[in-house]
Formats: sequence, C-alpha cells, structure tokens
Amino acid sequence: MKESLLRLKNSAISLILDTNNQDELEELRIQFLGRNGELTQLLKGLPKVAKEDRPEVGRVANEVKQIIENALMQQGSAAKEQKIKTTLDVTEPGIRPSLGHTHLVTQAITEITEIFERIGFSRVRYPEVEWDWYAFTALNFPDNHPARDDWETFFIDHKPDPKKGTMLLTPHTSSGQIREMVSAVKSQTEGQKAPIEIKMLNIAKTYRRQSDVSHTPMFHQFETLVIGQNISIAHLKGVLDYFVKSYFGSKRTSRIRPYHFQFTEPSFETDVSCGVCDGKGNLPNGEACKMCKEGWLELGGAGMVHPNVLKACGLDPKKYSGFASGWGVERVLTMREGMQIDDIRLLYANDLDFLKQF
Ligand code: PHE
Repeated sequence: MKESLLRLKNSAISLILDTNNQDELEELRIQFLGRNGELTQLLKGLPKVAKEDRPEVGRVANEVKQIIENALMQQGSAAKEQKIKTTLDVTEPGIRPSLGHTHLVTQAITEITEIFERIGFSRVRYPEVEWDWYAFTALNFPDNHPARDDWETFFIDHKPDPKKGTMLLTPHTSSGQIREMVSAVKSQTEGQKAPIEIKMLNIAKTYRRQSDVSHTPMFHQFETLVIGQNISIAHLKGVLDYFVKSYFGSKRTSRIRPYHFQFTEPSFETDVSCGVCDGKGNLPNGEACKMCKEGWLELGGAGMVHPNVLKACGLDPKKYSGFASGWGVERVLTMREGMQIDDIRLLYANDLDFLKQF
C-alpha cells in the first residue's frame, strides 16, 4: 500500500511538471485527487491493510495528497505568469525606438538660416574647392600680399588657371561675396537692367591649417553680403544687433570696433556683450569673468565692401555700396551660455556619448 502511494505521487508529480496549461492541470487534479480519483481509489483498499499499519499508511496518504496539491498550485502560478508574458497588454508603456537627430552644428546652421531668412536674406552655397581669384585677388589682396598668410590656406596640387590662379580650399566664406556679385552682374546684363539688390547668406565649410583645442582644420562660417544703392554702416549695425538678440537673447547687446581687412573699408570686429557677467567683465563676487574679455565676446569680422571689390565684380562703387560680415558657426555655438566645450575638436570626433546630449 505504501509503495503504491509513493508510485502514485511520483507519476502525479512528473505529469504535473510536464505541463504549463491550466486546463491540463485541472484534469490532473481530478485524475489524482478527485472524488473518483486515483488516490481515493487506492485508499479504498485501506481496510485490507493490517490494523497496526493503518495509521502509518494514513499519514503517508495525507502527505502524498499535500505534495500533489502543492505541485499543482506551483505549476498553476507558473502557468499564469507564462500566460501574462505572452498576452499583449495594451496599457504597458511601449519600448521607445531610438531616434537620431541632426548634429549640433547642423542645428546651429538651421537656426542661423531661419534668423536671417526672417529679414529677407537668401541662403546660398558656392564651391569649397575654389580659385585664388575668388578667395583673395578679387577681395583686394594684391599678388603675394602678406595678408594672404593670415588665412593659413590649404592649396590644391593642381595646374593653376591662367586667370584665376591656384586652386585652394576656401579659407573663408568671403569668396561667396565675389561669386554672388559676379553672378548678379551677369544676370543683370543678360536680362533687364533693374538695379542690383543683394541680401546673401552664405553658410559653408572653411578650411585652415590649424588644429588645437579651439581650432579644427575644417569649420563653418556664415557670411552676409548686402548690396544696394544706399547701404551704410547703420544697416550693418542693425543686422548685427538683430542677429545678436535673436541668437543669444534679447538682453544681449553688440558693438563694432575698428579693424583691418583687405576687402572692407572701414573694417570692424564685431562683439557681443557677455551673458555670464552681463557685459560687466566682473562677477558679483568681484572676480574677473572667465568667459569674456572685459564684458565682450568677439563674434568675428565685418565691414563696408571695399570699392576695389565692387569694381572687381563689375559694380560701380559710385552707384553701389554694401556691407559684409563673416562669423563662425562653431564660434557662436560655443559662445552661447551653458555650452562649455573644452576641446572644440570633440564636435567632429563622432563620439555618440557627446553628440546625444544635444
Ligand atoms: N573673411 C573674414 C575672416 O574670415 C571675415 C570677414 C567677412 C570680414 C566679411 C569682413 C567682412 O576672418
């Protein structure tokens, strides 16, 4: 009798462990523990057991029943869990697909473009592999003028053009001024003779032989060129101030300082008031501001288009005047408050941990 009980227990347990299905488990419960189940059937033979063995057999029978019940319960809850896992729960938060985004320099370019388009500038792009004539000569750099060296230019190993000189990588976006004016003059003589009006925004890659924590050999500039019949420094200052307030914030102010460029006269350096010390140069605790020089941050160059430049492009300096500015995209990006990038080369290192933050 005892052996039969143990055999019944073993076969019940192995059948229970074999299934994960609630219905099958219920069938097994009926098969073994039901009113006409195997255990009941077996216990019907109890009267045949010797009297003195009966208490022991009864104890084992109870134990077997308990063990089978426990096994059914455990397997039952495992089955439930399994079921939950395979059922679709529409209220469960979904797995977010990972989305990429544009590079922070591209984001800055988009923002700068929108700011200038709002006041009527049109975005253009010109070759980044360019002739000397567009990058220097037409910009009033006499041949072999030492100021050419200021631009640390990369030259291309290519046969020079008899008229346009050597081939190079654009060291600044000012070559776009020449391309723009030349094409405006050309389309004017081809079509009707309406006066020329230019409001150009040239954003492009620029290249210089320099690489350190604040320079990358490739960087971006955004160049404005406005040409018309009565363009003055006031227009330049107005556009500068509008850009500064739009990009850096309404509290920031701008200033222009005398400077020298071959292609503008007069020439200026343009500055933005510092957002960290509020243009004061000192912090409230009396320490000098680390972000700026005496309350000002340098934005880049600007000036009134030099008469020689207008002439080189076929425009009459007596009739036309204009201003131009050339500022760095990476520069304005890193000048914005809160953007402390210790090594500018990180922008182009393709480091996802860095890029994902923006
Ligand atoms: N091209 C000049 C530079 O790269 C900036 C500049 C642009 C200055 C237009 C005056 C006018 O430094």
